Amino acid sequence: MIITIDGPVASGKSTVALRIATELGMYYVCSGLLYRACTYILRHYAGYKTEHAITHPSQKDIEEYCNQYRIRYVYTIHGIQIFFDNHDITEYLKTATIDHYVSLLSTHEAIRIEVHIMQKAIAQDKDIVADGRDMGSVAFPDAEYKFFLTASVEERAGRWQKDQEKKGNNVSLQQAIEAITQRDYRDTTRAVSPLVVPAHAIIIDSTNLTLDQTVQEMLKYIKPWK
Ligand code: C5P
Repeated sequence: MIITIDGPVASGKSTVALRIATELGMYYVCSGLLYRACTYILRHYAGYKTEHAITHPSQKDIEEYCNQYRIRYVYTIHGIQIFFDNHDITEYLKTATIDHYVSLLSTHEAIRIEVHIMQKAIAQDKDIVADGRDMGSVAFPDAEYKFFLTASVEERAGRWQKDQEKKGNNVSLQQAIEAITQRDYRDTTRAVSPLVVPAHAIIIDSTNLTLDQTVQEMLKYIKPWK
């Protein structure tokens, strides 16, 4: 059984997906972390330091560094770990630098092909909850349940601002709105796998819902299966 949860940045999908996976005893696949891992690996191990470099990755480097044999995704009740050649790189993936570069790299078809291969390999023998931008539209179009989780730009900017605060980055609400709007723009207008509401997806607007209410609302659709 596959459940997909797509949505824009700071829509709360990772938190909600993890809660649903835990509640239903399923494996959680956070696809954003795989794109983040590719971004970190190209920057750190392959020398892609500039915006120009990361927007022009070579096919050879993508195949050499960003493949399912070198990048390993592990989900347990303790959380997610991502390994590159057996080095745990998890702690480097949610920095402001990776936030910035990942939406540039993820526009590349060759990167998306590698990440889709990784996602399919993970899902092969498991019941999964997968969250991201194209889980229900491209990666798993035949998923049993597809959700599109969203909230207003202001609400998402407020959540993102709080997240940044926890990481020690103080940004104003206006800066948060600008950052969110820029990432929304990149994610929805890119040529390859843009963020869309997948066909037959259930749309959940969490602007006025707490986390618990959002999870309960979604479980109403899925629970009868359990
Ligand atoms: O979900 P998260 O914010 O960690 O994702 C990081 C970035 O990875 C997104 O801004 C998006 O550019 C990219 N991404 C994607 N497709 C997915 C998941 C993430 O393009 N399925």
